[in-house]
Amino acid sequence: MNEFQDIDLTQIPQHIAIIMDGNGRWAKKQMETRTFGHNAGVEAVRQVVEGCVELGVKHLTLYAFSTENWNRPQYEVDALMTLLVKALRAELKTFQKNGVKLNTIGDLGKLPNNCQTQLLDTFEATKDGDRLQLNLALSYSSRWEILRAVNSIVKDIRVNDFSEEVTESVFKTYLDTKDIPDPDLLIRTSGEFRISNFLLWQLAYAELYFTEVFWPDFSKKELAKAILDFQKRERRFGKTSEQVKS
Ligand code: IPE
Ligand code: IPE
Ligand code: MG
Repeated sequence: MNEFQDIDLTQIPQHIAIIMDGNGRWAKKQMETRTFGHNAGVEAVRQVVEGCVELGVKHLTLYAFSTENWNRPQYEVDALMTLLVKALRAELKTFQKNGVKLNTIGDLGKLPNNCQTQLLDTFEATKDGDRLQLNLALSYSSRWEILRAVNSIVKDIRVNDFSEEVTESVFKTYLDTKDIPDPDLLIRTSGEFRISNFLLWQLAYAELYFTEVFWPDFSKKELAKAILDFQKRERRFGKTSEQVKS
């Protein structure tokens, strides 16, 4: 079965961002624990990463753990951190084989030491990956990122004689996503219609795609549906349809 047969390979989004939501409800539906749901979500990550590599998507940003998620019960936070380390170890060979380079956005210093070490090891081991950059958002919140940027700019003005005008392109250099193009397509699973503090600046002109599917049920086929939907849209960036067509 080729999930991607209807996709126009000349119109592939270069950056897809995903709010992977619904692990808990997926598990509850079958009387399983939330941790079971998170574990099952790893297979969906695998499918999406592989799908993006096959299609030639250059950046995939996955919202894996938000700043607000620290407020979940401690056992769930611990389970998610353990899962992260386990999954990174298990996927390393596949990342290397498929040319996947790992990167993160967010406040890495807040993560447990073993997670930080595993991430650093994986950055090093995948640094030559040139097909897909996988950006994991970990302990990430967009307001945190924007405020940190503003504070760094203020500091540069006070301490480092920074006197340029702060344009969009200057501001961008202060964000964790400074080397990443803005997402073309944002996907959120599980039937929620919100952004939950994700990439507020960067999503300014992204196409939004919402699906009822819970994250563990997301697959290459679901990815294909989202991309096909994206390919039907006309991105006008404020212009008229006539302007865009000419
Ligand atoms: C997404 O699934 C995973 C994380 C936020 C870490 P949830 O855990 O939010 O699942 P629901 O929304 O409770 O179903
Ligand atoms: C958003 O999901 C964060 C991640 C997917 C990591 P949540 O489940 O935390 O979002 P809310 O609380 O429903 O908005
Ligand atoms: Mg949720």
